Amino acid sequence: MCPQSLLVALSLGSAAFASIPHQFPVNDTARETSVRPLDVTNLNADNASSYSNLSSDVEQWNFDEGPPENATGNLVFDTARSLLQHWPNTRYRNGHNIVPGMIPIGTLLYHGTRLDKIPTEPEWVATDPEHSIWFCRGVDGDNWHLTLAATRPLKVLYFDGNSAAKVPEGTMDVQDIIAWGEPKPDLFRSERERIKDLCTWGKKFGIDGFARMEMDFEVMLCDFTAGVKVVSFLNIATFGQDKLPRYPGPQFFRPGFDVGLREFEAMHAGSWHNRYPGDSRIVLDLTGLISMYDTTLAPSLVAVRAGLERQSTTPSGQRYRLEDPY
Ligand SMILES: *[C@@H]1O[C@H](CO)[C@@H](O)[C@H](O)[C@H]1NC(C)=O
Ligand SMILES: *[C@@H]1O[C@H](CO)[C@@H](O)[C@H](O)[C@H]1NC(C)=O
Ligand SMILES: *[C@@H]1O[C@H](CO)[C@@H](O)[C@H](O)[C@H]1NC(C)=O
Ligand SMILES: *[C@@H]1O[C@H](CO)[C@@H](O)[C@H](O)[C@H]1NC(C)=O
Repeated sequence: MCPQSLLVALSLGSAAFASIPHQFPVNDTARETSVRPLDVTNLNADNASSYSNLSSDVEQWNFDEGPPENATGNLVFDTARSLLQHWPNTRYRNGHNIVPGMIPIGTLLYHGTRLDKIPTEPEWVATDPEHSIWFCRGVDGDNWHLTLAATRPLKVLYFDGNSAAKVPEGTMDVQDIIAWGEPKPDLFRSERERIKDLCTWGKKFGIDGFARMEMDFEVMLCDFTAGVKVVSFLNIATFGQDKLPRYPGPQFFRPGFDVGLREFEAMHAGSWHNRYPGDSRIVLDLTGLISMYDTTLAPSLVAVRAGLERQSTTPSGQRYRLEDPY
């Protein structure tokens, strides 16, 4: 994603919510008097009239032919059919979309910590305990696992792609634009600042959290006392040291630190959501989808993408380091 082009879309996130006022009420008076951020000039990368003839004769369609070089509609459709599914968002990991959604009442969310204390600040919760347990990581009995239940529908904003991957190559651009007005690849590890500023931004829309994907799906939950109640807060067994078999493949942990198996479990849990319907604990409202592939909504990225593949690996082949603390 090109930071320069995205700079023009600074207020994109606000507009996502402004477009569905009944769901996320905004101040209509203020809206009318302000410039609507999405009314940017269409940079004319897509000429809509070139598609207008498609439906005239179905037999003329040639499915062996790819879409026109600079078309983006196909990318929007691909996005829409891939939301909340782990595999497509791993394959194409730089998200280009935000979608409002909700987490239904009664849904369980999980948080692992080494502290005997329920968070009083924004923190991360997982949709699967296999993922959250990985973050207990304490020694000498300091492994705490919290289970929360939603007591009302929680309002969330979903960032597609591998949006929780701690890499500087674009996975977090859309979040950064919303939190900070521009992508800040140098701050890819500044998760504490990111969650704090996203939650501050979301307050005026009543947003409870932000859904993202890493090894599995997670929610950046803004307030552990709002719309959720504690189901359990357990002191669980310390991970075995050197006792459990390690999964085959590259090892990211120092020998003797047997979190490798937990990591495998988290990835396995993520794989349950590989395909449709994806992670069904998060229910998206597609009428509020904002896609930066849509050149009528966001500044066109066609010119910066010209001649490039959709990126599926980092240029350096670098892998994010799973042992990095949040
Ligand atoms: C809406 O915005 C206008 C203009 O900024 C402000 O004067 C008014 O107090 C706001 N109304 C509410 C209900 O926040
Ligand atoms: C769009 O394409 C049509 C047909 O090729 C052309 O006549 C028209 O000028 C184009 N519009 C713009 C804005 O480029
Ligand atoms: C539209 O489709 C018809 C039927 O296939 C074809 O004859 C015609 O040339 C097309 N027009 C354009 C502008 O592509
Ligand atoms: C696609 O966009 C690039 C960059 O704007 C441009 O150089 C190229 O000519 C375009 N291709 C077509 C088929 O319009």
